[in-house]
This record gives sequence, C-alpha cells and structure tokens, in this order.
Amino acid sequence: MEEKKKIVYSAVQPTGRLTIGNYVGAIRNWVRLQQEYECFFAVADLHAITVRQEPAELRRRTLELVALYLACGVDPSLCTLYIQSHVPAHAELAWVLNTITYVGEASRMTQFKDKSARHADNINMGLMDYPVLMAADILLYGASAVPVGADQKQHVELARDLAVRFNNRYGETFVVPEPLIGRGDARIASLQDPSKKMSKSDENPSASVFLSDDRDTVLRKFRRAVTDSENCVRYAPEKPGISNLINIYCAFENKSVAQTEELFRGVGYGDFKAEVGEAVARVLTPIQTKQAELLADKPALSALLNESAERAYKTARRTLFKVYRKVGFYRGE
Ligand code: TRP
Repeated sequence: MEEKKKIVYSAVQPTGRLTIGNYVGAIRNWVRLQQEYECFFAVADLHAITVRQEPAELRRRTLELVALYLACGVDPSLCTLYIQSHVPAHAELAWVLNTITYVGEASRMTQFKDKSARHADNINMGLMDYPVLMAADILLYGASAVPVGADQKQHVELARDLAVRFNNRYGETFVVPEPLIGRGDARIASLQDPSKKMSKSDENPSASVFLSDDRDTVLRKFRRAVTDSENCVRYAPEKPGISNLINIYCAFENKSVAQTEELFRGVGYGDFKAEVGEAVARVLTPIQTKQAELLADKPALSALLNESAERAYKTARRTLFKVYRKVGFYRGE
C-alpha cells in the first residue's frame, strides 16, 4: 500500500502586492512542498475582510493571486489551490471552535493587538476571530505542517491549543499541527533600509521590488539600492545593504554566497546591482507573461477553481461532520 503523505496547509491573503521577499520566502516554498506532501493552499478571502476592503478590488486581487501562484509553478495536478470562501466548512468549523476559545486568549494575540491599534476605527469581531478561523482552515484538512512566516507562528500555536483542547473534551478528532517557519536565510530586506524586512506596504516605493514590476522598474530599484562605500561584493554583517543584494542574487540564481563573491570579484557595485536586477527580471518576466495568459482565460480559471474547491470540500466536510457528531448535533438516523 502506498504510504500516506503528510498533509501541509497554508494560505495567503489577497491583500497588497507581493514582493520578491514573498516569492523567495513563501511561493517558492509552496512549489517545493507540493512535490513531497499532500498540500492544500488557499487564497484567504474570508480573512481579508477583517479589515476594510474595496469589494471590486478584493475580487480582482483574489483572481490575480490565484493566477500568480499558478504562474509561479503551483501545480493543480499536484496540490489543491482554492479560494477559501468557496468551501463553506471553514466558517462552519470556526463557529464551533469559537465555543472552545477564550476571549482572553484571543484578545492576547499579538497581531490582534497590532491591528486593533492600526485600525482603531474598525475593531470588529472578525478581527479578533481571525486566528480561530485560521485554526479552522488548518484543522479541517488534518494538516500536520503549516508553512508560515514568523509573524503567524502564534496563530498556529493557537490552532494547536484548540486541537488539543477539542480532542481532550470530545475525544480524538483533530491532528495537532506544527508551524513550519521559513528558513532565515530566505529573508529579504528593504533595498532602502536593509535593517528592515522588505514589505508589501513600505511607504518608500524604491524599498520593495514587487512581482508585478516590469524589467525597467526592477533595474531602477536595484540601481538605487542602499550599499556602502567599500565597493567590494563581499558578504559581511557590517555591510547589510550589499549582503542583502548578494542574498537576492543567490536566491534568484540558485548560487551560494561564496560562488557569488567569487563571480563578482573585482566588480564594482554599479555592475553588480545591474546583474542582480537582471537576475530578478529574468525570473519575473516569464511569470508575469504566464499570469497575464491565465487571467485572459477567466472561464478556464474558474473551472479549475470550482474543481479544486470541490476537492477541498470533500476533505473538509468529512472533518466538519465528525466534529458536528462529536459535539452532539443531531444528524438524522
Ligand atoms: N494569516 C495568514 C497570513 O496572513 C494567512 C492564512 C490564513 C493562513 N489561513 C491560514 C496561513 C492557514 C496558514 C494556515 O499570512
């Protein structure tokens, strides 16, 4: 009998524009994981509306994100890539999990506190419930590993706590998940302030390279990247700007730091920056072309999404009905 593959679950919110940091840290990771595990990947639109969204924009971004992931190599024949709101079980399980989540623990979540401060005029119930919905996402699929950024670790830990709590109260039901935190070396810093992570919401437009940037924009941003005065392509903690550019080059050319230093021995920053820009553009351009092709055929995209939502729902509803039975809902004779 074929050994059962470990299940991996992750999701991304359809908000903001993705950067090359997201590509290296998250998207490429998904592409790798789908080869080895049974993966469920969602576009988390239910999560997105916990902060105010323009409806037409949310709809457009959701589809663009699906097309982007497909263009990057997420393969629907290897994994299930779907839109969260297409599978009603997420909201349904979240309701049940709400009843075993304490208001105290939900209100202590770091991200809830941060977002409450940033959106003080819209501290809605959904914002506080965000991690409970996320726990529902994960637990519905029996995922044992959840690849996330470090900022989501606390939420996966809540999912673990809720899984254990439910299992203790109602009997063995959920697989207890583990966060899978991305490797530190994949972290890409701002081009303008290398002490900060590259962010999709940086105010300085030169600080982040977006996956939607065209070749000229990419080259220009790298040309303007902050470095130092040594003019020597060398990786060192006291040279965070150039070290970040070396990291980016390595990530996009699949090279080691030593190989990169060797390759650019005696080359000045100007030429090196141009090469880093070219390396990034060489990867981004075909992705953008592919994404545009996919978006040009909406019926095909939506057929694919319907099919994957059905596949996801098949797994999710099995868990949901088990939960309904355990908590004592009457389901007929
Ligand atoms: N909250 C996650 C983020 O912003 C997205 C997300 C939603 C998620 N549901 C999830 C991630 C389930 C992992 C598992 O990055």
